[in-house]
Order: sequence, then structure tokens, then C-alpha cells
Amino acid sequence: MNPERQNSPTPSVMSFRSSMHSERLFREVAGRTLNTRNDLYMLPVDDEEQDRQDIEHRALYLVLDGLYAAPDLVAKAMAPRQNRPPAVFDIGTGSGIWAMDMAREFPHAEVVGIDLAPPTLHSEGIPNNCRFEVDDANLDLSHYADCFNVVHMRSVAQGIRNYKDTIHRVAQTMRSGGVLLLSSGAYSFFDENRQPLPVVGEGQPGWTACQALLTKVYELGRNGADLDAPSQWDKWLEASPFYTNVGAEDIYVPIGPWSPNLDMRCQRIAQLTQIDAGKVFPAFRPILTLGGMEPATADRWIATAVREVQEMRPKVFLRWRYVWAVRTKTKWYETT
Ligand SMILES: C[S@@+](CC[C@H](N)C(=O)[O-])C[C@H]1O[C@@H](n2cnc3c(N)ncnc32)[C@H](O)[C@@H]1O
Repeated sequence: MNPERQNSPTPSVMSFRSSMHSERLFREVAGRTLNTRNDLYMLPVDDEEQDRQDIEHRALYLVLDGLYAAPDLVAKAMAPRQNRPPAVFDIGTGSGIWAMDMAREFPHAEVVGIDLAPPTLHSEGIPNNCRFEVDDANLDLSHYADCFNVVHMRSVAQGIRNYKDTIHRVAQTMRSGGVLLLSSGAYSFFDENRQPLPVVGEGQPGWTACQALLTKVYELGRNGADLDAPSQWDKWLEASPFYTNVGAEDIYVPIGPWSPNLDMRCQRIAQLTQIDAGKVFPAFRPILTLGGMEPATADRWIATAVREVQEMRPKVFLRWRYVWAVRTKTKWYETT
């Protein structure tokens, strides 16, 4: 759907709910609400999870000092122009918070967020230049051909079957000069020296519930989803005829303000990340139980991991990876 062809008012989230049967969009698993469209993605899509995403968003806004990496490239791509207003695509929009903030920052632009399920938390206050659609990025994206000046995919890998192919198909949705922004947290925690925590069996020296849980979620998820993709993003983009000016940055964020050397901004990031981590472990319950873990074991690991991050024992970092690239003028073509 081309944003320029939209002549009806931006539909609100409530119109989603009244026009679609919610039982077809959601299913209940292990006490949480999951999407029904994509069986790879098993994190919840409920209010609790969207609230967590908002907290993470606030932390990452402080990390980047704004909504995106590569601010110069984004400013150029989003410059107002007469004939064709710029447009933004947020793939896997979740609560929609990033899309709504982009719509407020660029009131002259149109912002479209897609997700496997509609955002439900912010039914009020959606900017007029922002709308949400239910769609799966694993499927054909040709209905968005040549629409967008900025495309954003943050923390979506768990629902992406083949990320390299998705990056290729996303190029079809982009206008030349547009910016692709990818980001993801690593599937490991890192110690004070920024080394990965050990992956050892329960009861062995060095075992932590937080690392055990993340490792388990990675092992269960990688059977269908492309969880190793973030380490390859920049290589794939550099090899693609559709992208240029590729950049990458890894940022280590402390989980909790355990370091005495944090300025006020870093302390706030660390506190928000601690709250985020405390909420993400319970969100793993459906993945763990559908993956065959005994519910009692899942609950014990989750409770221990939540306590570890609350008590900041061990002292750990989360690593965020940011990768960006600019769309070339090369016309998009299908590959087999
Ligand atoms: C962890 S949340 C992140 C939400 C948001 N990007 C953020 O960073 O605040 C991942 C979101 O991506 C969505 N998602 C996963 N796979 C998807 C796919 N194939 N197509 C569309 N959305 C997808 C999920 O439903 C979920 O809402």
C-alpha cells in the first residue's frame, strides 16, 4: 500500500479491533497472549510485553541520544520535499512507540508500522501521520514497493525465517537514498570485562539463570528463526547491490547501575535496562514450555534470573548491535 495513495483518515488501533476478530489474532499460551499468524515468534504480544517494549525504547532513546543511529543519513533521507513527502516503515513495530515518536519528530512524513498483531497499549494519542497494519515481514512486501525513506527493524529476528532474504525484499520497499536501520540485543550476557558469561549446566560453577535462560531461548528459537543474523547484517548489506554506506556499532549497556563510574544518563539507561530485563524473563515462559521445559523448572529459572538482575549479581552487560545502510539507485529485482 503506497502511503501517498492513502486518502482516508489514519485508522486507529480501535478500528483494527472492531474490524478483526481478536480470537483470530491472539492465542493464550502459558498464561500469556501470543500472535496466531507466525509460529516462529513466541514472545507475547500482550499489554505487559508492550509495556516492557516501551521501557526498552526509553533506554535505547537515551543510548542513541535520539530515535536512530546514523542521524546525518536519516536527516538527509527525511528532508521535506515538495512532491513526495518522506515516509517511514517500522517492521515489527510492537507497541508502536518508535513509529509514533518518529511521526511526532517528522510531522511532514507518513509513518507505517506493521506487526503480526496490532499494538494495543496506545489506543489513544496515535499521531495522525502514523498508522498500523497487521502484516508478516516473511511474506511478499511488493504492496509497499518504492514507498519508504527510512525502514526500521528492531528486535524482530525471532520472527524472521531468513533475514538475508528479508533484507533483500525490504530493498523493494525503499526509495533510493533511503536508510535501513537494523538493531538487536545479543543472545548472551557479558561480564564486567565484556566477555560472554559461561554457558554451563545447572549446578556447575559459573552457572547463572539469566545466561541459562537466554541460551535456552536461543537454542529453541534458532530452529526456525534467523537468530544469528545480526552478526552477518553488515556483510550481507555490503555484498548487496541495493545498499551502500554500511555502518555498524556494538554498544554495551549495564543491566542495573552496578558500576560506580556511571554519569546520570548512563545510570538512567542502566536502571531502565534492569527493569526491562526483569520483565523479559517472564515473557520467555511460553517459549520455554512450548519447547518442552517443565513449567516448574521454567518458573524456577525465571524467578532466579529476575532476582539476579534485581540484585545485580552477577554484574552484567547487555550488548546492542546497530547496523545501517543507504539504499542505492539500483532497481529492485526478484532473485530465486
Ligand atoms: C521484541 S518486539 C520489538 C518491538 C519494537 N520493534 C521495539 O523495538 O520496540 C518484536 C516485534 O516484532 C514482531 N514481529 C516478529 N516477527 C515479525 C514478522 N515476521 N513480521 C512482522 N512483525 C514481526 C513481533 O510481533 C513483536 O511485536
